[in-house]
Amino acid sequence: MRVSGLLHLAAVLSLAVAVEAVKREDFKTCEQSAFCLRHRRFAEEIAQAPGWPSGGGGSGSGSGLSARSASPYSVVDGSVRLEQHTLVALVSHKDDQVPLRFEVSFLASGTVRVRAQEEEPLAPRFDDTQRYTLRDEGRALPYALLEDLRLTSTTAGGAAVHTVNYTTTTGDGAGALSVRITERPWSLTLLRNDKPAIQLNSRGFFRFEHLRSKPDGDVPDGEWEETFRTWTDSKPRGPESFGLDVSFAGCQHVYGIPEHASPLSLKSTRGGAKDAYDQPYRLYNLDVFEYEIDNPMALYGSVPLMLAHSAEATTGVLWLNAAETWVDVAHEKTSTIGSLFRREEPAVVTHWISEAGVMDVFLFPGPGVPDVYKQYAELVEQTPLPRDFALGHHQSRWNYLDEADVLSINDRMHEHDIPYDVVWLDIEYTDGKRYFTWDAAKFPAPAAMQDRLARDGHQLVVVIDPHIKRDPEYRVWAEANDRGFFVKTADGAGNFQGWCWPGDSAWIDYFNPDAARWLGEQYGLAKFNGSTASLFVWNDMNEPSVFNGPEISMDKDLQHHGGWEHRAVHNLYGMLYHQATANGLRARQSPALRPFVLSRAYFAGSQRYGAIWTGDNAADWAHLRASVPMILSNNVAGMHFAGADVGGFFGNPDAKLLTRWYQLGVWYPFFRAHAHIDTKRREPWLMGEPYLTHIRDAIRERYRLLPYWYTLFREASLTGMPLVRPMWVEFPGEKSLFAEDKTFMVGPAIMVAPVTDPDPMLPVEVVFPLQENWYDMKTHEMYNGPLTRQISAGLGDMLVFARGGSIIPTRERRRRSATLMRRDPFTLYVYVGRTGTASGKLYVDDGESYDYEGGAFIERELSFAKARLVSRPSARTASPPSAAQAAFSKRMAAVRIERVVVVGLRNPLTRATIRENGDERTVELGYRGAKVDAECVIRDPAVRIGNDWEIVLS
Ligand code: NOJ
Repeated sequence: MRVSGLLHLAAVLSLAVAVEAVKREDFKTCEQSAFCLRHRRFAEEIAQAPGWPSGGGGSGSGSGLSARSASPYSVVDGSVRLEQHTLVALVSHKDDQVPLRFEVSFLASGTVRVRAQEEEPLAPRFDDTQRYTLRDEGRALPYALLEDLRLTSTTAGGAAVHTVNYTTTTGDGAGALSVRITERPWSLTLLRNDKPAIQLNSRGFFRFEHLRSKPDGDVPDGEWEETFRTWTDSKPRGPESFGLDVSFAGCQHVYGIPEHASPLSLKSTRGGAKDAYDQPYRLYNLDVFEYEIDNPMALYGSVPLMLAHSAEATTGVLWLNAAETWVDVAHEKTSTIGSLFRREEPAVVTHWISEAGVMDVFLFPGPGVPDVYKQYAELVEQTPLPRDFALGHHQSRWNYLDEADVLSINDRMHEHDIPYDVVWLDIEYTDGKRYFTWDAAKFPAPAAMQDRLARDGHQLVVVIDPHIKRDPEYRVWAEANDRGFFVKTADGAGNFQGWCWPGDSAWIDYFNPDAARWLGEQYGLAKFNGSTASLFVWNDMNEPSVFNGPEISMDKDLQHHGGWEHRAVHNLYGMLYHQATANGLRARQSPALRPFVLSRAYFAGSQRYGAIWTGDNAADWAHLRASVPMILSNNVAGMHFAGADVGGFFGNPDAKLLTRWYQLGVWYPFFRAHAHIDTKRREPWLMGEPYLTHIRDAIRERYRLLPYWYTLFREASLTGMPLVRPMWVEFPGEKSLFAEDKTFMVGPAIMVAPVTDPDPMLPVEVVFPLQENWYDMKTHEMYNGPLTRQISAGLGDMLVFARGGSIIPTRERRRRSATLMRRDPFTLYVYVGRTGTASGKLYVDDGESYDYEGGAFIERELSFAKARLVSRPSARTASPPSAAQAAFSKRMAAVRIERVVVVGLRNPLTRATIRENGDERTVELGYRGAKVDAECVIRDPAVRIGNDWEIVLS
């Protein structure tokens, strides 16, 4: 049931134009979401029962393993058995007769998967999240074989305990892994070297609402029908939610589960801690205008991946569920009485609550950060290599008005010597928000406009939203309607109608594969009139945003393909739209070129389809600061290609804020300036001097480092490692950095300390970790870590430091765009570490095709030791080279290293001997910088990037 569409639309639109705080009342709290409230209350009761394992403040007794919670759920006697690679157990509640089937399986790299649902459900539960997220739709996961599992059963304290010891491919570092299941009450512990790492139901919060028939007469409140404001959810299936505690023994910090505008290290949401939130973190994709900072409210995307970290180990959990999910976090200390003294063991206890679907949980044992990402990447494909232009500077605004406006942006960028790759068009370019059309008065010749941009080396991105205007004259609506491709009403009888930008709209049901394919076909060059191969796409409003729907989204009882309720699939909707678009762009050319699609909504696995951004932020200093933990949390959760609107979406930044935002934005993986329709124009040249110069300098720094960024993307695509990294990821033993979320690393080699305060005299505290040298990237001034320094940054300065021991590839010729740099020579920066050594990588391919999959790339390992710089092929380079690789190397034969800069050499050296392909030549070294020995330059060694070579300094 919905309120009058127009009324609500008016309310939402007024929100869209005013810079004011979020309308909290539009969105549910846990108390207003009946299933969340039931589980939270249950957990509170359990926690109050005698014998609960932890007192939250440290007064409890017993370590998690031997703990006995008051959980009413136990393993059914005699039900534990091994079936192929899976340990099966039946679990039931002491008061009911509905056994749950638990399946525990073990993956090659050490991951443990735990699934649960009714042994004989009354109706199927939605179980396709795995299809949409996991590699090969989850069908071909590398499970450990039965012979690799050793099951032993014993009795401890009157309860049966089953232990599976298993072997992994992670290598010796993983230690001995085992899983222990206690029967009464049930709990599961993943142990490394016999020490608990991750525990399930050790706190007894597990609660499973089995499917049931609707009772006659009165039904419990919120179980069969639930009303929020003016909307009533009919809930025809009744209650079907479940909750579980997942504890990370020995940890004080957990991270991830974006998207929230909250600190990187997740705060407590219960347990009475100081500074705790009173609401759980919510995962439910929503369109939240002017979102609040430091708040666990749901935002546009949801990735149910959490990492836990201590100085000893990193572990993780993937809660594979796409329904509305809430996560409570509590930081606890459990006292254990050892033989000699009492010990305080920290633990983070999390409580996950989902409304529908099957319970499907993956536990990643680590123990290192790269191990956790390897384990995640074994399940979920990681970010593919983007088009090279996508790493450049994107200029957007709601809206560039017409063709002349677009071309004038292009001209001004050139005139002011600002490199940029893409200009963006927001919703106003269309004919009345009918996507795949153009406003003919403002854009009479869109293809010619794109050709003109393309000739200058630039691309165009246009927004294509998921709502389809209900208009029989509109081909897209008529075709989708004829084919029955729209999301259906709760009774399945008609198409769901709601309000969005075009007014009365319908939404394509991407769970119907034919509908998804059909949408992809709309991107065909012949089909999408006025599009060219240099047009790319922005998918916005795909949470989905429905202006007159509950919480500005779809009613949960709507029907999708296969009869599934929206409730079960909500968090997948945006990803499937993103996927359909990316597939469509990929298919529009043969051979295929890589697509570029930006999406606002996302889920675990969305990284496969393109970039995401943090939605409608505001032009203020607090939002500038908040963008860092938000983008880091996304990177921790595998959403690598993430950015925030540079300048802030709502409101007008002054020139100083805008300058600082560019100086931070050039370090976002996705770097786009964007602004609300009601804001003043704010392109860099409108700011005047000195701001224009500072902004231009920052953008040039982005372009100079594109080879480093591209190499990082290559690594992320293979390893899943974040591109921008919290400090703890690079310095896993430095406890003081575990909660740091102002300073961050870009890859392993660059540390960024953003200036996020208006007062330039206010120094920024920079911590230089480890016994290592750090070099200011601009001045090359050296800092000897470990060191904490207060550094003031003039308005033209970014506080960015290269880590000693790194080699960073750059391209320093000034170009208008990334695509115009493809044949440019490289400059290598060798930042000598404490031990006199350095290493790095360089990855190059054609930047647009999929030929790299057949080996058409150059990937080099660069190392510097004993004054000798060496370039060798990476281990991923085939030897002898494949035909594709040889062809690519030939194509790049003229691309050379035009300069090597060695920073931090202790002894002044005078000559460089260059050896390549059996040739040897010697050049004189030059020096620059104030200190003679600080920066030594080898001018034009002219070695080819595809060749083996060495440069020896003497
Ligand atoms: C909402 C998006 O978040 C914003 O970036 C965009 O400008 C507007 N929709 C209009 O399309």
